[in-house]
Amino acid sequence: MHTRTPDPVRPRRYGTPDPRRRRRGVAALTAAALLVVSLAACGQEAKGGSRYRPDKGKGGTVGLAMPTKSSERWIADGKNMARQFEKAGYEADLQFGDDKVENQVAQVENMIAKGHRLLVIAAIDGSALTDVLRRAKDAGIPVISYDRLILGTENVDYYASFDNERVGRLQGQYLVDKLRLKEKKDETFDIELFAGSPDDNNTRYFWNGAMKVLRPYFKSGQLRVRSHQTKMNQATTLRWDGGTAQKRMDDLISKNYGSEDVDAVLSPYDGISIGIISALKSAGYGTKAKPYPVVTGQDAELASVKSILAGNQTQTVYKDTRKLARQAVQMGDAVLTGKKPEVNDTKTYDNGKKVVPSYLLDPVSIDKSNVQRLVEDGYYKAGQLT
Ligand code: GAL
Repeated sequence: MHTRTPDPVRPRRYGTPDPRRRRRGVAALTAAALLVVSLAACGQEAKGGSRYRPDKGKGGTVGLAMPTKSSERWIADGKNMARQFEKAGYEADLQFGDDKVENQVAQVENMIAKGHRLLVIAAIDGSALTDVLRRAKDAGIPVISYDRLILGTENVDYYASFDNERVGRLQGQYLVDKLRLKEKKDETFDIELFAGSPDDNNTRYFWNGAMKVLRPYFKSGQLRVRSHQTKMNQATTLRWDGGTAQKRMDDLISKNYGSEDVDAVLSPYDGISIGIISALKSAGYGTKAKPYPVVTGQDAELASVKSILAGNQTQTVYKDTRKLARQAVQMGDAVLTGKKPEVNDTKTYDNGKKVVPSYLLDPVSIDKSNVQRLVEDGYYKAGQLT
Protein backbone atom coordinates (compact mmCIF):
# COMPACT_ATOMS: atom_id res chain seq x y z
CA MET A 1 0.00 0.00 0.00
CA HIS A 2 2.63 2.48 1.03
CA THR A 3 5.90 1.89 -0.71
CA ARG A 4 8.57 4.38 0.07
CA THR A 5 11.20 4.92 -2.54
CA PRO A 6 14.28 6.84 -1.48
CA ASP A 7 14.30 10.25 -3.09
CA PRO A 8 17.16 11.21 -5.34
CA VAL A 9 19.56 13.63 -3.73
CA ARG A 10 20.28 15.36 -6.99
CA PRO A 11 17.45 17.29 -8.62
CA ARG A 12 15.82 15.43 -11.43
CA ARG A 13 15.66 17.51 -14.52
CA TYR A 14 13.13 17.05 -17.19
CA GLY A 15 14.12 17.85 -20.74
CA THR A 16 17.46 18.67 -22.23
CA PRO A 17 19.27 21.60 -20.70
CA ASP A 18 19.27 24.47 -23.12
CA PRO A 19 22.27 26.82 -22.88
CA ARG A 20 20.08 29.77 -23.91
CA ARG A 21 17.86 29.07 -20.93
CA ARG A 22 20.84 28.75 -18.67
CA ARG A 23 22.03 32.15 -19.83
CA ARG A 24 18.59 33.46 -19.24
CA GLY A 25 18.69 31.96 -15.70
CA VAL A 26 21.95 33.78 -15.01
CA ALA A 27 20.50 36.99 -16.37
CA ALA A 28 17.43 36.50 -14.22
CA LEU A 29 19.56 35.88 -11.16
CA THR A 30 21.55 39.04 -11.79
CA ALA A 31 18.39 41.02 -12.38
CA ALA A 32 16.87 39.62 -9.19
CA ALA A 33 20.01 40.44 -7.25
CA LEU A 34 19.91 44.01 -8.60
CA LEU A 35 16.26 44.27 -7.67
CA VAL A 36 16.94 43.08 -4.13
CA VAL A 37 19.87 45.48 -3.77
CA SER A 38 17.89 48.43 -5.10
CA LEU A 39 14.92 47.65 -2.86
CA ALA A 40 17.18 47.24 0.13
CA ALA A 41 18.76 50.59 -0.73
CA CYS A 42 15.34 52.22 -0.73
CA GLY A 43 14.56 50.47 2.55
CA GLN A 44 11.33 49.30 0.98
CA GLU A 45 9.66 46.04 0.29
CA ALA A 46 8.57 45.18 -3.20
CA LYS A 47 4.84 45.56 -3.57
CA GLY A 48 2.30 43.89 -5.88
CA GLY A 49 3.61 43.17 -9.35
CA SER A 50 6.99 44.70 -8.65
CA ARG A 51 8.10 41.69 -6.66
CA TYR A 52 8.38 39.72 -9.89
CA ARG A 53 11.51 39.75 -11.93
CA PRO A 54 11.49 42.26 -14.72
CA ASP A 55 12.39 39.65 -17.38
CA LYS A 56 8.89 38.36 -18.01
CA GLY A 57 8.62 35.66 -20.59
CA LYS A 58 8.99 31.95 -21.21
CA GLY A 59 12.04 29.90 -20.38
CA GLY A 60 14.12 29.16 -17.30
CA THR A 61 13.40 26.55 -14.66
CA VAL A 62 10.42 26.09 -12.38
CA GLY A 63 10.82 24.25 -9.08
CA LEU A 64 8.17 21.67 -8.23
CA ALA A 65 8.27 20.57 -4.58
CA MET A 66 5.97 17.59 -3.95
CA PRO A 67 5.57 16.05 -0.48
CA THR A 68 6.13 12.34 -0.95
CA LYS A 69 6.24 9.39 -3.28
CA SER A 70 4.38 7.19 -0.82
CA SER A 71 1.13 7.96 -2.58
CA GLU A 72 0.57 7.56 -6.32
CA ARG A 73 -1.15 10.85 -6.64
CA TRP A 74 1.84 13.06 -5.79
CA ILE A 75 4.03 11.22 -8.26
CA ALA A 76 1.39 11.79 -10.94
CA ASP A 77 0.87 15.43 -9.91
CA GLY A 78 4.60 16.10 -10.12
CA LYS A 79 5.09 14.35 -13.44
CA ASN A 80 2.01 15.94 -15.00
CA MET A 81 3.19 19.40 -14.02
CA ALA A 82 6.74 18.76 -15.18
CA ARG A 83 5.48 17.57 -18.56
CA GLN A 84 3.10 20.48 -18.98
CA PHE A 85 5.61 23.12 -17.88
CA GLU A 86 8.03 21.72 -20.44
CA LYS A 87 5.41 21.89 -23.14
CA ALA A 88 4.84 25.51 -22.18
CA GLY A 89 8.54 26.31 -22.67
CA TYR A 90 10.17 25.86 -19.25
CA GLU A 91 12.43 23.32 -17.60
CA ALA A 92 11.15 21.55 -14.52
CA ASP A 93 13.07 20.59 -11.39
CA LEU A 94 10.84 18.03 -9.66
CA GLN A 95 11.60 17.06 -6.06
CA PHE A 96 9.84 14.85 -3.53
CA GLY A 97 10.29 15.52 0.19
CA ASP A 98 9.82 11.95 1.47
CA ASP A 99 7.29 13.37 3.96
CA LYS A 100 10.11 15.02 5.91
CA VAL A 101 9.72 18.73 6.53
CA GLU A 102 13.47 19.36 6.65
CA ASN A 103 13.91 17.69 3.24
CA GLN A 104 11.30 19.90 1.67
CA VAL A 105 12.73 23.08 3.20
CA ALA A 106 16.21 22.12 1.91
CA GLN A 107 14.83 21.34 -1.54
CA VAL A 108 13.06 24.70 -1.77
CA GLU A 109 16.19 26.49 -0.51
CA ASN A 110 18.14 24.77 -3.23
CA MET A 111 15.63 25.82 -5.88
CA ILE A 112 15.95 29.43 -4.76
CA ALA A 113 19.74 29.23 -4.77
CA LYS A 114 19.66 27.90 -8.32
CA GLY A 115 17.63 30.86 -9.47
CA HIS A 116 14.49 28.99 -10.46
CA ARG A 117 11.88 31.41 -11.67
CA LEU A 118 8.83 29.97 -9.94
CA LEU A 119 8.06 27.63 -7.06
CA VAL A 120 5.06 25.29 -7.01
CA ILE A 121 4.82 23.67 -3.59
CA ALA A 122 2.56 21.00 -2.09
CA ALA A 123 3.60 21.48 1.52
CA ILE A 124 4.35 18.65 3.92
CA ASP A 125 3.73 20.94 6.88
CA GLY A 126 1.74 23.99 5.79
CA SER A 127 3.27 26.19 8.48
CA ALA A 128 6.92 25.25 8.10
CA LEU A 129 7.86 27.29 5.04
CA THR A 130 7.74 30.85 6.39
CA ASP A 131 11.51 31.40 6.51
CA VAL A 132 12.35 29.79 3.23
CA LEU A 133 9.57 31.67 1.45
CA ARG A 134 10.88 34.95 2.83
CA ARG A 135 14.04 34.09 0.95
CA ALA A 136 12.01 33.33 -2.17
CA LYS A 137 10.41 36.73 -1.89
CA ASP A 138 13.79 38.43 -1.48
CA ALA A 139 14.91 36.71 -4.65
CA GLY A 140 11.72 37.80 -6.43
CA ILE A 141 10.44 34.26 -6.99
CA PRO A 142 6.66 33.84 -7.12
CA VAL A 143 5.07 30.94 -5.26
CA ILE A 144 2.05 28.80 -6.07
CA SER A 145 0.60 26.70 -3.28
CA TYR A 146 -0.42 23.36 -4.79
CA ASP A 147 -3.39 21.44 -3.39
CA ARG A 148 -2.42 22.23 0.24
CA LEU A 149 -2.48 25.83 1.40
CA ILE A 150 0.80 27.25 2.72
CA LEU A 151 0.07 28.98 6.01
CA GLY A 152 1.35 31.94 8.01
CA THR A 153 3.16 33.81 5.23
CA GLU A 154 2.38 36.61 2.84
CA ASN A 155 4.80 35.11 0.39
CA VAL A 156 2.40 32.85 -1.39
CA ASP A 157 0.81 34.27 -4.50
CA TYR A 158 -1.80 31.79 -5.69
CA TYR A 159 -3.45 28.58 -4.61
CA ALA A 160 -4.62 25.79 -6.92
CA SER A 161 -6.72 23.09 -5.29
CA PHE A 162 -10.07 21.35 -5.16
CA ASP A 163 -13.03 22.56 -3.18
CA ASN A 164 -11.77 20.91 -0.01
CA GLU A 165 -14.83 21.47 2.11
CA ARG A 166 -16.91 19.88 -0.60
CA VAL A 167 -14.67 16.79 -0.44
CA GLY A 168 -15.68 16.41 3.21
CA ARG A 169 -19.33 17.06 2.44
CA LEU A 170 -19.27 14.37 -0.26
CA GLN A 171 -17.83 11.87 2.24
CA GLY A 172 -20.40 12.81 4.90
CA GLN A 173 -23.29 12.72 2.45
CA TYR A 174 -22.20 9.34 1.18
CA LEU A 175 -22.39 7.93 4.71
CA VAL A 176 -25.83 9.47 5.24
CA ASP A 177 -27.16 8.02 1.98
CA LYS A 178 -25.52 4.61 2.28
CA LEU A 179 -26.73 4.08 5.86
CA ARG A 180 -30.12 5.47 4.75
CA LEU A 181 -30.23 7.73 7.78
CA LYS A 182 -33.08 9.80 6.34
CA GLU A 183 -35.37 6.77 6.31
CA LYS A 184 -34.08 4.76 9.27
CA LYS A 185 -34.89 7.39 11.84
CA ASP A 186 -35.23 4.93 14.74
CA GLU A 187 -31.99 3.07 14.27
CA THR A 188 -28.60 3.86 15.76
CA PHE A 189 -25.46 3.28 13.72
CA ASP A 190 -21.95 3.05 15.14
CA ILE A 191 -19.38 5.12 13.33
CA GLU A 192 -15.69 5.89 13.94
CA LEU A 193 -14.03 9.03 12.66
CA PHE A 194 -10.63 9.59 11.09
CA ALA A 195 -9.02 12.88 10.08
CA GLY A 196 -5.94 13.68 7.98
CA SER A 197 -2.56 15.02 9.02
CA PRO A 198 -2.80 17.78 11.63
CA ASP A 199 -0.21 19.90 9.81
CA ASP A 200 -2.11 19.89 6.51
CA ASN A 201 -4.58 22.76 6.17
CA ASN A 202 -6.87 20.56 4.07
CA THR A 203 -7.51 18.31 7.05
CA ARG A 204 -9.82 20.75 8.79
CA TYR A 205 -11.68 21.55 5.58
CA PHE A 206 -12.36 17.86 4.95
CA TRP A 207 -13.36 17.36 8.58
CA ASN A 208 -15.57 20.45 8.79
CA GLY A 209 -17.27 19.57 5.51
CA ALA A 210 -18.07 16.06 6.71
CA MET A 211 -19.21 17.29 10.13
CA LYS A 212 -21.57 19.82 8.58
CA VAL A 213 -23.44 16.91 7.04
CA LEU A 214 -23.11 14.42 9.93
CA ARG A 215 -23.74 16.72 12.89
CA PRO A 216 -27.56 16.56 12.81
CA TYR A 217 -27.38 12.76 12.97
CA PHE A 218 -25.07 12.82 16.00
CA LYS A 219 -27.56 15.20 17.62
CA SER A 220 -30.54 12.98 16.83
CA GLY A 221 -28.67 9.92 18.13
CA GLN A 222 -28.83 8.10 14.81
CA LEU A 223 -25.05 8.13 14.69
CA ARG A 224 -22.97 7.17 17.71
CA VAL A 225 -19.21 7.10 18.21
CA ARG A 226 -18.55 4.31 20.71
CA SER A 227 -14.96 5.44 21.30
CA HIS A 228 -16.17 8.98 22.07
CA GLN A 229 -13.27 10.24 19.95
CA THR A 230 -15.33 12.90 18.25
CA LYS A 231 -12.92 15.83 18.14
CA MET A 232 -10.72 16.39 15.13
CA ASN A 233 -7.55 16.39 17.22
CA GLN A 234 -8.43 12.93 18.57
CA ALA A 235 -8.89 11.59 15.06
CA THR A 236 -5.92 12.98 13.12
CA THR A 237 -3.40 10.76 11.32
CA LEU A 238 0.10 12.22 11.14
CA ARG A 239 1.36 12.43 7.53
CA TRP A 240 -1.76 10.63 6.34
CA ASP A 241 -0.02 7.37 7.16
CA GLY A 242 -2.00 4.18 6.54
CA GLY A 243 -0.04 2.20 9.16
CA THR A 244 -0.85 4.80 11.82
CA ALA A 245 -4.55 4.60 10.89
CA GLN A 246 -4.43 0.82 11.01
CA LYS A 247 -3.04 0.87 14.57
CA ARG A 248 -5.66 3.37 15.71
CA MET A 249 -8.44 1.31 14.15
CA ASP A 250 -7.10 -1.90 15.80
CA ASP A 251 -7.25 -0.06 19.07
CA LEU A 252 -10.72 1.40 18.51
CA ILE A 253 -12.13 -2.03 17.66
CA SER A 254 -10.51 -3.90 20.54
CA LYS A 255 -11.37 -1.29 23.18
CA ASN A 256 -14.89 -0.38 22.14
CA TYR A 257 -16.57 -3.02 20.06
CA GLY A 258 -16.51 -6.43 21.78
CA SER A 259 -19.25 -8.39 20.05
CA GLU A 260 -20.75 -5.29 18.43
CA ASP A 261 -20.01 -4.27 14.86
CA VAL A 262 -18.92 -0.90 13.58
CA ASP A 263 -21.28 0.25 10.81
CA ALA A 264 -19.33 3.06 9.21
CA VAL A 265 -15.94 4.75 9.19
CA LEU A 266 -15.32 8.29 8.02
CA SER A 267 -11.94 8.16 6.32
CA PRO A 268 -10.54 11.26 4.61
CA TYR A 269 -8.05 9.57 2.28
CA ASP A 270 -7.56 6.26 0.47
CA GLY A 271 -4.22 5.44 2.15
CA ILE A 272 -5.94 5.78 5.53
CA SER A 273 -8.94 3.72 4.32
CA ILE A 274 -6.63 0.87 3.31
CA GLY A 275 -5.11 0.89 6.81
CA ILE A 276 -8.57 0.90 8.39
CA ILE A 277 -9.71 -1.99 6.20
CA SER A 278 -6.62 -4.03 7.17
CA ALA A 279 -7.52 -3.56 10.83
CA LEU A 280 -11.12 -4.54 10.12
CA LYS A 281 -9.96 -7.64 8.26
CA SER A 282 -7.76 -8.69 11.19
CA ALA A 283 -10.80 -8.29 13.45
CA GLY A 284 -12.80 -10.71 11.29
CA TYR A 285 -14.72 -8.30 9.07
CA GLY A 286 -15.18 -8.96 5.39
CA THR A 287 -17.35 -12.08 5.58
CA LYS A 288 -21.05 -12.60 4.86
CA ALA A 289 -21.80 -12.78 8.58
CA LYS A 290 -19.62 -9.76 9.38
CA PRO A 291 -19.49 -7.49 6.33
CA TYR A 292 -17.20 -4.49 6.13
CA PRO A 293 -18.67 -1.23 7.36
CA VAL A 294 -19.18 1.67 4.96
CA VAL A 295 -15.71 3.19 4.52
CA THR A 296 -15.14 6.45 2.66
CA GLY A 297 -11.91 7.70 1.07
CA GLN A 298 -10.32 10.23 -1.22
CA ASP A 299 -8.05 10.38 -4.28
CA ALA A 300 -9.39 7.40 -6.27
CA GLU A 301 -6.02 5.68 -5.91
CA LEU A 302 -5.77 2.51 -7.93
CA ALA A 303 -5.51 0.22 -4.87
CA SER A 304 -8.65 1.77 -3.42
CA VAL A 305 -10.60 1.66 -6.66
CA LYS A 306 -9.79 -2.05 -6.81
CA SER A 307 -10.78 -2.39 -3.17
CA ILE A 308 -14.12 -0.73 -3.99
CA LEU A 309 -14.66 -3.16 -6.86
CA ALA A 310 -13.83 -6.04 -4.51
CA GLY A 311 -16.44 -4.78 -2.03
CA ASN A 312 -14.01 -3.76 0.73
CA GLN A 313 -13.72 0.03 0.66
CA THR A 314 -17.05 1.62 -0.23
CA GLN A 315 -16.40 5.07 -1.61
CA THR A 316 -13.67 7.48 -2.65
CA VAL A 317 -13.54 11.07 -3.84
CA TYR A 318 -12.08 11.46 -7.29
CA LYS A 319 -10.00 14.57 -7.84
CA ASP A 320 -8.66 14.69 -11.37
CA THR A 321 -5.07 15.60 -10.61
CA ARG A 322 -4.37 16.12 -14.33
CA LYS A 323 -6.74 19.09 -14.21
CA LEU A 324 -5.09 20.40 -11.07
CA ALA A 325 -1.67 20.18 -12.66
CA ARG A 326 -2.99 21.98 -15.76
CA GLN A 327 -4.41 24.73 -13.58
CA ALA A 328 -1.17 25.22 -11.68
CA VAL A 329 0.83 25.31 -14.92
CA GLN A 330 -1.54 27.89 -16.41
CA MET A 331 -1.22 29.98 -13.26
CA GLY A 332 2.57 29.70 -13.27
CA ASP A 333 2.85 30.51 -16.95
CA ALA A 334 0.58 33.54 -16.52
CA VAL A 335 2.63 34.84 -13.59
CA LEU A 336 5.89 34.39 -15.49
CA THR A 337 4.66 36.03 -18.66
CA GLY A 338 3.14 39.01 -16.88
CA LYS A 339 -0.50 37.97 -17.24
CA LYS A 340 -3.14 37.67 -14.55
CA PRO A 341 -3.77 34.04 -13.55
CA GLU A 342 -7.36 32.85 -13.61
CA VAL A 343 -8.90 32.44 -10.14
CA ASN A 344 -12.43 31.52 -9.06
CA ASP A 345 -12.27 32.09 -5.30
CA THR A 346 -10.92 35.13 -3.51
CA LYS A 347 -12.59 34.63 -0.13
CA THR A 348 -12.16 31.16 1.31
CA TYR A 349 -8.46 30.50 1.77
CA ASP A 350 -7.12 32.78 4.47
CA ASN A 351 -3.69 31.52 5.45
CA GLY A 352 -3.45 33.68 8.57
CA LYS A 353 -1.60 36.47 6.77
CA LYS A 354 -3.66 36.96 3.64
CA VAL A 355 -6.51 35.54 1.65
CA VAL A 356 -4.78 33.65 -1.11
CA PRO A 357 -6.46 33.97 -4.52
CA SER A 358 -7.44 30.46 -5.50
CA TYR A 359 -8.63 28.30 -8.32
CA LEU A 360 -10.76 25.46 -6.96
CA LEU A 361 -11.77 22.42 -8.97
CA ASP A 362 -14.74 20.15 -8.36
CA PRO A 363 -14.33 16.78 -6.62
CA VAL A 364 -16.59 13.81 -7.53
CA SER A 365 -17.85 11.01 -5.28
CA ILE A 366 -17.16 7.53 -6.67
CA ASP A 367 -18.43 4.14 -5.59
CA LYS A 368 -19.10 0.84 -7.35
CA SER A 369 -22.07 2.34 -9.19
CA ASN A 370 -20.12 5.04 -11.07
CA VAL A 371 -16.57 3.74 -11.05
CA GLN A 372 -16.77 3.66 -14.87
CA ARG A 373 -16.38 7.43 -14.79
CA LEU A 374 -12.66 6.93 -14.09
CA VAL A 375 -12.29 4.91 -17.28
CA GLU A 376 -14.45 7.28 -19.33
CA ASP A 377 -12.29 10.19 -18.21
CA GLY A 378 -9.16 8.25 -19.16
CA TYR A 379 -7.94 8.45 -15.55
CA TYR A 380 -7.45 4.67 -15.60
CA LYS A 381 -7.57 2.14 -18.39
CA ALA A 382 -10.27 -0.51 -18.08
CA GLY A 383 -7.55 -3.18 -17.88
CA GLN A 384 -6.02 -1.57 -14.79
CA LEU A 385 -9.19 -2.08 -12.78
CA THR A 386 -9.46 -5.85 -13.22
C1 GAL B 1 -4.20 16.07 1.06
C2 GAL B 1 -4.82 15.98 -0.30
C3 GAL B 1 -5.53 14.68 -0.45
C4 GAL B 1 -4.62 13.52 -0.12
C5 GAL B 1 -3.86 13.73 1.17
C6 GAL B 1 -2.79 12.69 1.42
O1 GAL B 1 -3.57 17.27 1.23
O2 GAL B 1 -5.70 17.04 -0.53
O3 GAL B 1 -6.04 14.57 -1.75
O4 GAL B 1 -3.75 13.31 -1.19
O5 GAL B 1 -3.26 15.01 1.19
O6 GAL B 1 -1.82 12.71 0.43
